[in-house]
Amino acid sequence: MSEPVYQRIRIAEAGSYDGRQVEIAGWLYNLRKSGKICFPQVRDGSGILQCVAVKSALPEELFESLKHLTQESSLIIRGKLRAEPRAPGGFELDVEDATVVQRVSEEHPYPITPKDHGIEFLMDHRHLWLRSRRQHAVLSIRHEVIRAVRDYFDTHGFTLVDTPIFTPAACEGTTTLFGVNYFDDEKVFLTQSGQLYNEATVMAFGKVYTFGPTFRAEKSKTRRHLTEFWMVEPEMAYATLDDVKRVAEEMICFCVDRVLANRREELSVLERDLTKLQAIQPPFPRISYDEAVLALQKKGSEIQWGGDLGGADETLLSEDYDRPVMVDRYPTAIKAFYFEPAPDRPEVALGVDILAPEGYGEIIGGGQRIHDLDLLLQRLEEHHLPREAFDWYVDLRRFGSVPHAGFGMGIERFVTWMCGIDHLREAIAFPRMLYRTRP
Ligand code: 4AD
Ligand code: MG
Repeated sequence: MSEPVYQRIRIAEAGSYDGRQVEIAGWLYNLRKSGKICFPQVRDGSGILQCVAVKSALPEELFESLKHLTQESSLIIRGKLRAEPRAPGGFELDVEDATVVQRVSEEHPYPITPKDHGIEFLMDHRHLWLRSRRQHAVLSIRHEVIRAVRDYFDTHGFTLVDTPIFTPAACEGTTTLFGVNYFDDEKVFLTQSGQLYNEATVMAFGKVYTFGPTFRAEKSKTRRHLTEFWMVEPEMAYATLDDVKRVAEEMICFCVDRVLANRREELSVLERDLTKLQAIQPPFPRISYDEAVLALQKKGSEIQWGGDLGGADETLLSEDYDRPVMVDRYPTAIKAFYFEPAPDRPEVALGVDILAPEGYGEIIGGGQRIHDLDLLLQRLEEHHLPREAFDWYVDLRRFGSVPHAGFGMGIERFVTWMCGIDHLREAIAFPRMLYRTRP
């Protein structure tokens, strides 16, 4: 009789291997035992599989080593897959053989146990915490969102053009810049946004997007702020504020649909209320900043015309809607230098913020850019921005300048909302925040 040949598969593929002899390479997630039988639960990154090891069916030494295996020990396990409707995932593996690759020692056990750990402890052990089911689910949804975002732009005529991270000037205002010592005493800054470079590349390609890490030295210790976050930023030539709203709405719906279609299991691990995501359908409500201020005042907010919406205001305002709400035409005075003023009313800017429902706050900011040379020069001066650093940007208004517009969406904000979790820190593998730069 020939030796059985075990085919190496990933747990997620179990459905295609019912009744077959397979090999799973993973880590011990959990272990239940009762005398002559033990149930190692193995995770391999694609799923969790319950295995069944029966004492009488295995060499004594092997059975004992499985029975006393420690949490997160790495192992390769071989046996026959069997459909088991009661098992999570629908399959079980009858163990025939196993190799322990590394046994976690009892003296130094895996620090994250099923008991409740405090958030600081978990954040300090983020490098291990990522293995847990919830964190795995959140990061899988993040992957889905990123893939959807790219697919959306790639199939709608946008060209991906990466923009630099070392930059000579501020995009969103000088107060939240991280300075870096470059060579020969030259000072540069970590980018706050790729937008200014998008405005150059868009004149070469018509429609572009950039997608990368961005940095804000914001001393805000809120659940919505990271100092390093990922942003996707599309930009369109011959486009206006209305195009921004249309594309943003379409892209959001595209991404929500993808998450609902492909990540049901992860959403259920997170106990996400699916009806909240299913409600995300066009058209989204569109209101002006003026209307938002009035609505907020009625709800008891202290906001006055001219002030920015705080986090609490955003939550208050979004309460009225079951889908994202678009707020446009903010006061020019509180917006970045590049916003095109409304032609009929220059004290407001042709910009829009999109606020997610359920209190998740601003997920998108964008609008129409100044395309007139003189107005741009005036704004740079008003904002005390160094002309030399913006020479190339000003140049764009000299050579075939056209109305153009775009937006930025923070990936962690979007993922936090999709997952229905409380804090942005879980929406990125290794968050960087005011008081956290480790691990
Ligand atoms: O509204 P913001 O500052 O807009 C820009 O940077 C524009 N230049 C984008 C553009 O038009 N190309 O940031 C855009 C989005 C916000 O709506 C939010 O989702 C996210 O980036 N964001 C943050 N995410 C996490 N932590 C922070 N500190 C963030 N600041 C902004
Ligand atoms: Mg904003």
